[in-house]
Amino acid sequence: MRLLPRSLFGRTLLVLVAGLALTQIASQTLNFFDRGSGVYRLAAQQTALRIARAARVLSRVTPQERQAVVEEMNGGSSFSVALAGKPVGIAARFAEHDRYERELSTLIRYYLHADWNTSVVITSLGHDARPRNYEAIDLTPPEQWLARHFYFLHPGAYSTVAQVQLEDGSVAVFYARMPQEPLSRMESLLPRLLLSLVIFVTLGAVAVATITRSLKQLARAAEHVGVDIEGPPLAETGPSEVRAVIRAFNRMRGLLREQVLERTRMLGAISHDLRTPVTRLRLRAETIADPELREKFVRDLDEMRDMTAATLDFFKGVDGGSPQRAVDVGALVASVAEDWSETGADVTVAGAAWRPYAAHPQALRRCLDNLVENALRYGKRARIRILDGESALVIAVSDDGPGIAVTELERVFDPFYRVEPSRNRASGGTGLGLAIARNIARWHGGDIVLRNAIGGGLVAELVLPRARSVTAHRKAAITAVR
Ligand SMILES: Nc1ncnc2c1ncn2[C@@H]1O[C@H](COP(=O)(O)OP(=O)(O)OP(=O)(O)O)[C@@H](O)[C@H]1O
Ligand SMILES: [Mg+2]
Repeated sequence: MRLLPRSLFGRTLLVLVAGLALTQIASQTLNFFDRGSGVYRLAAQQTALRIARAARVLSRVTPQERQAVVEEMNGGSSFSVALAGKPVGIAARFAEHDRYERELSTLIRYYLHADWNTSVVITSLGHDARPRNYEAIDLTPPEQWLARHFYFLHPGAYSTVAQVQLEDGSVAVFYARMPQEPLSRMESLLPRLLLSLVIFVTLGAVAVATITRSLKQLARAAEHVGVDIEGPPLAETGPSEVRAVIRAFNRMRGLLREQVLERTRMLGAISHDLRTPVTRLRLRAETIADPELREKFVRDLDEMRDMTAATLDFFKGVDGGSPQRAVDVGALVASVAEDWSETGADVTVAGAAWRPYAAHPQALRRCLDNLVENALRYGKRARIRILDGESALVIAVSDDGPGIAVTELERVFDPFYRVEPSRNRASGGTGLGLAIARNIARWHGGDIVLRNAIGGGLVAELVLPRARSVTAHRKAAITAVR
């Protein structure tokens, strides 16, 4: 199972959410402890003051009046006084509470302004040990844990029993439950945490989405450079850093285009300018007296002429040409097949395209023409199949020829490379056909894939992407076809 999200968006959000949750929990807990200890200090002072005052009053009145005063004091449910002849034995609960007990008895003595014997025990009063009207509370296990280890957060869980020896030697026993910060504050933390998470995640998502949108735009543009270097420059949007990248990227694309065009033009010019001297040479060759030599000269010069013509063709195919428009691929394929059939070739068509394809029609035609020409030249007959799908449109041309050795399958795409190197014009051309076809396919965001059919013969597939993400679909389409 993958726990870490794959996208930048997911990862950034995860970090933001985790960070926020942690800081919120930490700060709320700190806050809770802080307030809890403040509230406890106040409550302890008040309780000590109340006990000390009551003890002083009891000490001042006569023993006869004391009972009446005690009755008067015992109104509430969290404070109670009892009189005893000598200290009452009460067991403490936890050693963790010792320091609170010491603190409280020091405080009581401080407020008494006298050094009367004072002892404090923090305890859970059993039912039979509780004075009348006095209420103690029952604890859930988590509360028990909290009241034991963090007594100051939950002092109301236990009773404080303070015994003060009055001046006449009798003992006043005070039972008190301290007021405390309501524990429900801890529970209200969750909705608050959720609220801040929602706000934070929404804002974070907007911020991260802005950045990732620009990155995606950039990635798409990078894909398109390889496919159509002529496209419009990328809009410089998004945060300044991303804008800077896009600007640099646009500049790079511009330079690249300049270079490609420059070389294309140069090669085109060379090929073009070679035509005239070659034609002149051919004319002169006709005057050679020796017929054998003349024939050799003419053959070589014809080949040179063909090569320059093909080279020029090659650049025409990619550079300029017809604009892109919705092409009825079925009709295009049918017309290519018909042209070849008219020359007496054996060409069949099967399958259909579901909907038009946005392409440069003349270029696409050249591409198909080259594939069919190869099938006829090396395989005697051509079978064209159109396979249309969600992600790609595939036009497969298969033949009954010898196929191509696996080691040669990629090399035949190299310009001027021919498997059979003899320059016998009857058995082949200049070796540019597949290079041109692949160039055109890639120009459309697709590719040409060659493979040997199981029953013999070569299958050349023109794979054209149907969906947006060019590279992804080119790969998907190619693997799907294989
Ligand atoms: N259908 C095929 N069956 C067998 N071999 C092929 C097939 N198609 C191409 N080849 C081999 O690949 C080589 C390169 O093909 P490509 O179309 O690029 O050039 P060409 O056909 O020789 O010349 P051009 O197409 O420029 O007239 C061919 O020379 C041939 O050896
Ligand atoms: Mg060819």
